[in-house]
Amino acid sequence: MVVAHTSVKKTTEEFRSDWVPTRYDLRDTWFPIAHAPHVTTKIVRRIIHSRPVFLWRENGRAVASEFHPEKSSGSGQASAFTNGSGLYPIAERYGYVWIWYGNPDLADQNLLPHIPFLPADGSIPNFMRTTIRFDACSALSVENLLDLTHADFLHGQLVGGEGVSETDDVSFEYTSETLTRTRIVTGKPVSQIMRWVGGVRSKYQDFQSILHVHLRSNLCISYPRFTPGIDVPNVQPFVPVGQNRSRVDQIFNLTAAPLPFRRLMPKIAYTIGPQDNYVMRPQNPAYLHPSKRLDFHSRFDAPGTRYRHLMEHLHLRQISGDFSYQNDGDPGVDITQILGMEKPVQ
Ligand SMILES: [Fe+2]
Repeated sequence: MVVAHTSVKKTTEEFRSDWVPTRYDLRDTWFPIAHAPHVTTKIVRRIIHSRPVFLWRENGRAVASEFHPEKSSGSGQASAFTNGSGLYPIAERYGYVWIWYGNPDLADQNLLPHIPFLPADGSIPNFMRTTIRFDACSALSVENLLDLTHADFLHGQLVGGEGVSETDDVSFEYTSETLTRTRIVTGKPVSQIMRWVGGVRSKYQDFQSILHVHLRSNLCISYPRFTPGIDVPNVQPFVPVGQNRSRVDQIFNLTAAPLPFRRLMPKIAYTIGPQDNYVMRPQNPAYLHPSKRLDFHSRFDAPGTRYRHLMEHLHLRQISGDFSYQNDGDPGVDITQILGMEKPVQ
């Protein structure tokens, strides 16, 4: 699908004037702003790039507003993000409520990312949903996730162990809108969670981890597969709250996993998340304001370096007024094969 954005010039000037000083404030994209079951008749507030978004349901349909509906007197001026209406374009799919962040004239549900392991109607049990907050901007959080080697020392007790293996290969592919990182490890010691909770009896296992990152939205679609062992497909949307904060409403699909692994694995996010945060929080100021000091790189950092390059490129394009999607960058394209799945769920 080719997406032509022609009417974007109109709002470019408005966008420039309110550009948020996060490192990457990328626009014309869908953000999964909330777990769908968390949006009810009761009003909840979320934040994207320091902008409040109020969410609720009317007759079952989700609504997203720039203003609190019960405090409309002090609401102020609606922005270009809602064409002055105050209401964001909205979608509901895969168990998320999504809002379009950008020029509302260009909101198109065909641009929602494809997530082949989640049912489109979002019928996933609540215990497979988590919410983690990070004291770092979204892009740094994504870079941390791209660098899976950190798991060996940071999360080693639970899920690591890849450090001592027979082979360990990292490769990646990219388009103008996505980056796909593949890590293949053979002959690694079985991780503790797989042994204790997953019932894996062998001493060693192979590990294939595919991470598909949507650059504009920081939506990370992750498909780790352990052989012997259990697939742990999950989505981590790093929603940019502000310079020093991102929010991840994560969904696992562990319906094929045995009990008690199915119930316990999502809870591990509440242990792993703070470990990541411990490392990222002090890094964030340097990430927002890069100095001349050189980063040290290993061969495992190549996907992260490419990620930063692609993000800079998108950022510069948008600064110059070009918000279009290029021919190779359709976010809705079927990624079943990219994730190593045989067929989508349902
Ligand atoms: Fe981590």
